[in-house]
Amino acid sequence: MRLLALSGSLRARSSNGAVLRSALALWDGPTALADIGALPHFNPDLDGEDATPPAPVAALRTAVAAADALLLVSPEYAHGVPGVLKNALDWLVSSGECVNKPVAVVTASPFPTGGDHANAQLRETLRMMTGEVVTAACREIPAIGPKIDPATARVADEETLAELGVAMAHLAAAAATSLTP
Ligand SMILES: Cc1cc2nc3c(=O)[nH]c(=O)nc-3n(C[C@H](O)[C@H](O)[C@H](O)COP(=O)(O)O)c2cc1C
Repeated sequence: MRLLALSGSLRARSSNGAVLRSALALWDGPTALADIGALPHFNPDLDGEDATPPAPVAALRTAVAAADALLLVSPEYAHGVPGVLKNALDWLVSSGECVNKPVAVVTASPFPTGGDHANAQLRETLRMMTGEVVTAACREIPAIGPKIDPATARVADEETLAELGVAMAHLAAAAATSLTP
């Protein structure tokens, strides 16, 4: 089964990027990372049935349609979802590729809250889009800093890795169920 990941951080040394790479390594199947940093700002004028979507938007929609499950990994900015990730989701609202798509939302933060506001907001947006939010596969990871090995840019903390493994197993199970006729 194919997993597509979207990151809410564009930062080169992103802690959420490290979480994302670690989670993808635990997925049994092909994986890909969506290039949402290349998307233009969402504009409904470019989103209608008669509109030709910009190339990065078309590429995102194709990648989401081809995925059996989605993994969103994101920081929280100002108690909210980073604009780059909300922008990507806005491009997917009317086109429908997220409908019934199993999705896991993982947020990581240097603070004890684990990005709980952004996590809740992402789940709410995905539910509104009628994606299948797999609650058992969602995680809020607190105090992420020391849990990452800067040499590998991956999660080194055993407990967090185990949690990510459980989360990916739940996401894979949901994807397998949704493929069953
Ligand atoms: C503009 C800005 C706002 C932030 N707001 C929050 C916040 O509301 N909650 C939080 O947990 N962390 C907040 N942070 C801290 C980020 O969680 C931290 O910078 C984190 O490393 C960003 O994720 P990344 O390492 O994946 O880029 C904020 C950071 C920035 C730059």
